[in-house]
Amino acid sequence: MRIAVIGVGYVGLVTAAGLAETGNTVIGYDIDPTKIEKLQRGESPIYEPGLDHLLARNLKEGRLSFTGVLEEAILPAELIFLALPTPPMTGGEADLSFIFSAADSIVRVLSKAYLNGISDSKIVITKSTVPVGTARRLQHFFAERLPHRMRVASNPEFLREGYAVEDFLKPDRVVIGSPDPEVGEKLYQLYLPYTRQGNPIYIMDWESAELTKYAANAFLAMRISFMNELARLCERVGADIDKVRLGMGADSRIGRRYLYAGIGYGGSCFPKDTHALAATARQHGLSLHLVEATIEVNVHQRKLFWEKVRDYYHGQLQGRTFAVWGVAFKPDTDDIREAPAIDVIRWLLEAGAKVRAFDPVALPSLRRDYPDWPIYYAHNPYDAAEGADGILVITEWAEFRQPDWSLLRQKLSRPAIIDGRNLYNPAQLYALGIDYISIGRPSVYGYSEKVESKQK
Ligand SMILES: NC(=O)c1ccc[n+]([C@@H]2O[C@H](COP(=O)([O-])OP(=O)(O)OC[C@H]3O[C@@H](n4cnc5c(N)ncnc54)[C@H](O)[C@@H]3O)[C@@H](O)[C@H]2O)c1
Repeated sequence: MRIAVIGVGYVGLVTAAGLAETGNTVIGYDIDPTKIEKLQRGESPIYEPGLDHLLARNLKEGRLSFTGVLEEAILPAELIFLALPTPPMTGGEADLSFIFSAADSIVRVLSKAYLNGISDSKIVITKSTVPVGTARRLQHFFAERLPHRMRVASNPEFLREGYAVEDFLKPDRVVIGSPDPEVGEKLYQLYLPYTRQGNPIYIMDWESAELTKYAANAFLAMRISFMNELARLCERVGADIDKVRLGMGADSRIGRRYLYAGIGYGGSCFPKDTHALAATARQHGLSLHLVEATIEVNVHQRKLFWEKVRDYYHGQLQGRTFAVWGVAFKPDTDDIREAPAIDVIRWLLEAGAKVRAFDPVALPSLRRDYPDWPIYYAHNPYDAAEGADGILVITEWAEFRQPDWSLLRQKLSRPAIIDGRNLYNPAQLYALGIDYISIGRPSVYGYSEKVESKQK
C-alpha cells in the first residue's frame, strides 16, 4: 500500500519504518526541516534500539523516503497516518491543535489537487493518542471542506519507547476504530503481517478505540501509583515493597509487570494521558477517582524522593555535589519529557547544589532543552561520582545495576546512594559501607554507622 506518515517523531518514525518493512511504500513528512534533512541523510534524529537498522534497510531498498513537502507525501498515498503531538493544555485536556492544523494542511493540498482533476479517496488514520470524539470531529472536518471521499480511522499506538521497533513489528494487539467495514478490512490487511503469531486485531467503533488507548495507559500508571502508595506504608511498618511485589506479581491474575515502586512515572505519555482522561471525564460530568488519585500519588512520589534527599543531608544541600545517574524518563531512550530527573536537577540547582549528570544517551537532550543549566555532563557513571556527596539514581539503565563498587567508593567523597529505582540490595550496600536509601525498603547506613562508631 502507499502510505504517508505525517509527523516523524518517536511514534511516526517507527511507524513509517515498520510499515515499510513489510513491503509498503511509505513517505514520512514533518514540519521540522532539520529532522527531515537528517532522515534524508539516513540518520535517525532519535535514539531507539533497532531503529537505525530498520531505517537503513528500507531507505536503501527504496520503500521508505522522507520529505518536507506535504504534497509529495499525501498525493500518492491511499493511507495517511497522523502521528502528531497531543500535549496537555493547562486544564489537562489534550491539545488537538497539531492534529487540526495538519488536517487543515491536508485539506489545502487536496483542494488544490481537486482543481487539477485529482480526487482520489483517502483514509486518514489517527495514530496519535487523541480524546474520544476526535475521529468523529475529523470526519466532519474533511466532509465539510473537501469533495473527496475522505474516511477517518482511529488506530492508537501502544509501542513503548526503548522497545518501539519490537512492539511495532510484533504488537500484543492492534486496535482499529472505524464504522466503515471497508476501512476496517483495509487496515486489517495492513496489520496482518505483524500478527502472524496470532495476536489479535480488534476492529471497533471510533470512540471505543480512542478510549482503549487512554484506558491502557491509565491502568498501567495506576499500577505504578498503587505500588508507590504501598511503598510508603512499607516504610512505616518495616516491610519491603520488593518482597511484596514478588509475592503479588506471582499471582497470574495480577502479573509481574508495572509493579515497581520508585520515584514515579514520567515520559511523554502516562502523565499527559492520565490528565487528558480525567479531563474528558470531567467534560462529561464524571470524576474518575482512581485516575485522579493515580496522578496525585505520582506527583507526590517525586516530592517524597526529594524529601529523602533533603532529610539525609539534614537540609544542608548548598555547596554539595551530586551525581545524578540517569536523565531519560526510562532506560533505552533519549526522551526526557516529564522525566523525574528534570525536577530533581532543578531542585538541586535551586538548593545551591552542584550537579554531575550522567546518562548513556539522554545528555544531548538535556543540553538541548536546558542549555542554561550549570551542570557537568559526565562521561560515565564514575566520572559523575567524582568527588560527589552522593549518587541519586533516577533511571534504571542496565549499566547502573552492577557498578564497580570499589571504584565508586574511591570516587565518592561520601559513600551515599539515594535510589529512586530500587536497583541494589540494601544488605550488600550496608556491607560495603555505603549509606543506602531506597523506596519502600528499610534504609541502611553502612557508612554513617562506621563513622559514628569510629568517633565513639
Ligand atoms: N512516544 C511514545 O512512546 C508514544 C506511544 C504511543 C502513542 N504516542 C502518541 O503519539 C503521538 C506522537 O507522539 P511522539 O512521542 O511521536 O511525539 P513527537 O513529538 O516525538 O513527534 C511529533 C512529530 O510531529 C511533528 N509535527 C508537529 N506538527 C506537525 C505538522 N503540522 N505536520 C507535520 N509534522 C508535524 C513534530 O515536528 C514531531 O517530529 C502523541 O499523541 C503521543 O501521545 C506516543
